[in-house]
Amino acid sequence: MRRPMVAGNWKMHGTRASNKLLVDELQQRMTDDWGIDVVVFPPYVYLTEVMRQVEGDSIAVGAQNVCAEGPGAFTGEVAAAMLADIGCTHVLVGHSERRRLYGEDDALVARKFAAVLAARMTPILCVGETLDERDANQTDAVVSRQLDAVLRMSGVKSLAKAIVAYEPVWAIGTGRNATPAQAQTVHAVLRSRIAAQDANIAGLLRILYGGSVKAANAAELFANPDVDGGLIGGASLSADEFERICAAAAVQP
Ligand code: PGA
Repeated sequence: MRRPMVAGNWKMHGTRASNKLLVDELQQRMTDDWGIDVVVFPPYVYLTEVMRQVEGDSIAVGAQNVCAEGPGAFTGEVAAAMLADIGCTHVLVGHSERRRLYGEDDALVARKFAAVLAARMTPILCVGETLDERDANQTDAVVSRQLDAVLRMSGVKSLAKAIVAYEPVWAIGTGRNATPAQAQTVHAVLRSRIAAQDANIAGLLRILYGGSVKAANAAELFANPDVDGGLIGGASLSADEFERICAAAAVQP
């Protein structure tokens, strides 16, 4: 049985005051009875403050990005060892905004993934196709290529300490989520590709869906057998929405 996870990617949003309010509200609403893991991903500069606020309760804190190198002479970058040092437990790698806006290719994403593991944190590897790629029937090929880059560099066993997120680029921030069937299909492709190398690791790996998840569609997305929770962008900035998404992922008694 895979423990569901709901992850909140705050992207480049928030202020000290709004973060405090959001976390306060989340803490009032969260319950351990849900049987899920909850992680939030604030911008770098707020990590320590958010960590201090959630100290002692069950919300984990992760980073949205990491440098593949270092520590060393890399002005403006943040090393995995530093994130681990301040208490980060998870790091997003390969988010489509990083791939698209900052030119991160599969090879760089694979190096970031390895750097996160080397610092003993959990990478969340994001994969997903653009609308053009979907229309050209390349979805399976694209997500497989993105996954394979990591498998080649770190090996299938590395996935025992990682999470994968399927995030179709056309669904991110657009209000147009993948249908439950579309999500399930791609999640199953990813899981079976991993199972071909190690069935046990494939069976234990959590694969999250991301892309316009909200309270209104979370339950039907999470009901799929290969969807183990969600990576939530816009809706993670609302405590009410995020709570209802977490409740949708909760293990039913
Ligand atoms: P969204 O973003 O929920 O706002 O579509 C998801 C993500 O980018 O992780």
